[in-house]
Amino acid sequence: MQESNIPLHIGLIMDGNGRWAKKRLMPRSFGHNSGMNAMIKVADRAKERGVKYLTVYTLSTENLNRPKEELEGLYDLFRGYFTKNVQKLYKKGAGVKVIGDISVLPQDVQKLLSDGVENSPEDADFTLIFAINYGARSEILRAVNTAVERGEKLDGKGLEALLYTAGIPDPDLIIRTGGEKRLSNFLAYQSAYAELYFTDVLFPDFDGNELDKALEEYACRERRFGKV
Ligand code: IPE
Ligand code: IPE
Ligand code: MG
Repeated sequence: MQESNIPLHIGLIMDGNGRWAKKRLMPRSFGHNSGMNAMIKVADRAKERGVKYLTVYTLSTENLNRPKEELEGLYDLFRGYFTKNVQKLYKKGAGVKVIGDISVLPQDVQKLLSDGVENSPEDADFTLIFAINYGARSEILRAVNTAVERGEKLDGKGLEALLYTAGIPDPDLIIRTGGEKRLSNFLAYQSAYAELYFTDVLFPDFDGNELDKALEEYACRERRFGKV
């Protein structure tokens, strides 16, 4: 694979944890645990392949309506990741970012997330971006309202500077696991020209080899950006 054909930024919609668990007659939380392990491996492979940004769709604004018990399980996974695994990421010269409105999360989780971002190496060569309580519609509305409050008329650059993803290049490739073919409110503005890759593989079964398959397909796509 040629370096130039590697996406700079990948967006990953990690779907199918619940169905994966159900097939095994296990609770949904078991699927989320396995999904977290898969995410850690996929992030390592992405970094190895030369990807610079990986945005993982971890919790959508709509997911916040799920049962309290399921959400608590997810928050525990965030606690685990941001106390233990994040250190391993730093050691590899990588860092983390968070996009979304985390102000509704439990206080201790908010603190762990912001410490995780703050303690990231400054010269990180790979950034793992967690989209948590993220929704493209609320991201855009928030930006527009900020501009209105400031009495500012927005152009493209102005709007982009007010999005959660300010300073992060647009995703080149969006991968969705779990068989559905939709974005579910993920990076709608930023993915205007992203290549889309859908696979039926349920997220806990998605691994480095599955990522490589997506990268191989991406490398064969012709991106024209409206030109001839
Ligand atoms: C994706 O898996 C993870 C989250 C949305 C938190 P799901 O929990 O949506 O799994 P399915 O789609 O029900 O199988
Ligand atoms: C999208 O998955 C959100 C995440 C993967 C975090 P959902 O399972 O919530 O999406 P829908 O409901 O199938 O559109
Ligand atoms: Mg789902």
